Amino acid sequence: MTVNEQLSNLIDLSGKRALVTGGGKGIGAAITTRLLQAGAEVTIADNDETLHTETFKDLVPPRFIHCDITVPEQLTAAVEDAAGGSNLDILINNAGIYPPTGPIAEVSDEFVTRMLDINVRAQFSASREAANLMGNGGAIVNISSIAALRGGAGISAYSTSKAALIGLTRAFANELGRRRIRVNAIAPGIINTPGLNEQNEALKAEGLDVYAAITANPLRLAGEPDYIARAALFLVSDLSVFITGRLLVVDGGATD
Ligand SMILES: NC(=O)c1ccc[n+]([C@@H]2O[C@H](COP(=O)([O-])OP(=O)(O)OC[C@H]3O[C@@H](n4cnc5c(N)ncnc54)[C@H](O)[C@@H]3O)[C@@H](O)[C@H]2O)c1
Repeated sequence: MTVNEQLSNLIDLSGKRALVTGGGKGIGAAITTRLLQAGAEVTIADNDETLHTETFKDLVPPRFIHCDITVPEQLTAAVEDAAGGSNLDILINNAGIYPPTGPIAEVSDEFVTRMLDINVRAQFSASREAANLMGNGGAIVNISSIAALRGGAGISAYSTSKAALIGLTRAFANELGRRRIRVNAIAPGIINTPGLNEQNEALKAEGLDVYAAITANPLRLAGEPDYIARAALFLVSDLSVFITGRLLVVDGGATD
């Protein structure tokens, strides 16, 4: 790769096969859109049947696979399907949940187990399955959260799960690097998504006013899914060819 390489070539994903978990809406849908724009063949693995296909109406549509990422057979089938009988090039571990945890004293083991299963264990499995089909070269992006860095009252289990993803990112990057598989993570700030809107009232009860927080950053910008998608595109493209095992914080500068 030389400095003379065309900029358009560095973000050209044509011929690449990508899997986006939870790509049906929110941040995952925005990432899917950017990957499609860059020419990738994208498969969405999502457990929500009400996928709004009009989101992608001006693009080559992504394929949709009904998949609960916590069910191993469904996850394996989704990864294999996305690879289309050949190699997989890109995995975006985006699907995750963030119901309020409640005060630490009241958090049950069942709640923590469920949170870790969806937000960490499934990402581990997806990364392993995807890496098996990546051959020599590929990119994995894990969607963590600024909650991993700063914690937060009432979201202890969520913060714990998202911090674990950073360790996963470093470990996989280290081990898979020799196969030129790059593994990075993004920590989004507060982003205006359907999931956040659904949680708004419950989070408010925990003392988190997400709408007040959404523009509480030095840029005074309300967090939009596409801001995360642009960072994801950077991390899967050759623009970031020498970057692996890193956490990219995308929060308008909100986190110290
Ligand atoms: N919105 C934010 O403010 C914010 C901030 C930091 C990190 N994040 C992280 O970004 C990711 C996406 O968040 P979002 O706000 O876009 O969420 P969202 O709820 O709007 O969308 C999440 C998507 O994941 C799918 N999904 C959930 N559980 C699944 C499962 N078990 N199997 C398959 N698909 C599943 C849902 O159906 C949905 O389409 C999550 O990992 C979240 O923790 C979000």
